[in-house]
Amino acid sequence: MLAAARAYVAARWRGLAGAFAAGVAAVGVVGGVLGLATVAFGLYDTTATNPHGRVAAWALHHTFINSVRRRSGDVAGPPGFTAAQVAAGFDQYAADCAMCHGGPGVDRARWVRQLEPSPPFVIDSARQFTPAQLFVILRDGVKMSAMPAWGETRTTAELWNYVAFLEALPRISPAEYAAMRHARDPAEREH
Ligand code: HEC
Repeated sequence: MLAAARAYVAARWRGLAGAFAAGVAAVGVVGGVLGLATVAFGLYDTTATNPHGRVAAWALHHTFINSVRRRSGDVAGPPGFTAAQVAAGFDQYAADCAMCHGGPGVDRARWVRQLEPSPPFVIDSARQFTPAQLFVILRDGVKMSAMPAWGETRTTAELWNYVAFLEALPRISPAEYAAMRHARDPAEREH
């Protein structure tokens, strides 16, 4: 009697497990077909004039943050930065980054707002990322965005200069930033 009950329960579980596996496989096949159809028939709108939907934007941004966290573990950040590194970092930032990321009291270049995803202001990025994480973002860039991998064209010391400047940035007021820009290039027009 007990043996018969056991056999019945086992058969029932096997039946359920089989149905579950078939369900998962069906979802996989439908997902695969939808994915292929999206690629083959241009179903996903890749135009920059139509921004990512909220879910896609959230997924992309958090994938980026977690990828940076995962890949920065073996980068040892320096204990601190010198004033010379911050000054050099400002010069490099003004030449390489400000058009896309703006600065205190300074907007991004107009064309940059038409990039999708649009480059964020990085005034408080140092509060969100550690120096090692910022170094990895700068060195390796961000796939599927306009953020270049600067490690291809800049030395390690230059990459740390950018980080030094980003670390100082939250404490630089719009007036100080304007003075720094003017000292770097007296002809630079205010926005
Ligand atoms: C052509 C435009 C462009 C240039 C030039 C550029 N970036 Fe970026 N950057 C981006 C975009 C777009 C992102 C957003 C990536 C994302 O989240 O998908 C980004 C992201 C970042 C982030 C992460 C910001 C955050 O809080 O999520 C930092 C920090 C950063 N850039 C720093 C720099 C620095 C420093 C330079 C100069 C060496 C630079 N970028 C040059 C486009 C640019």
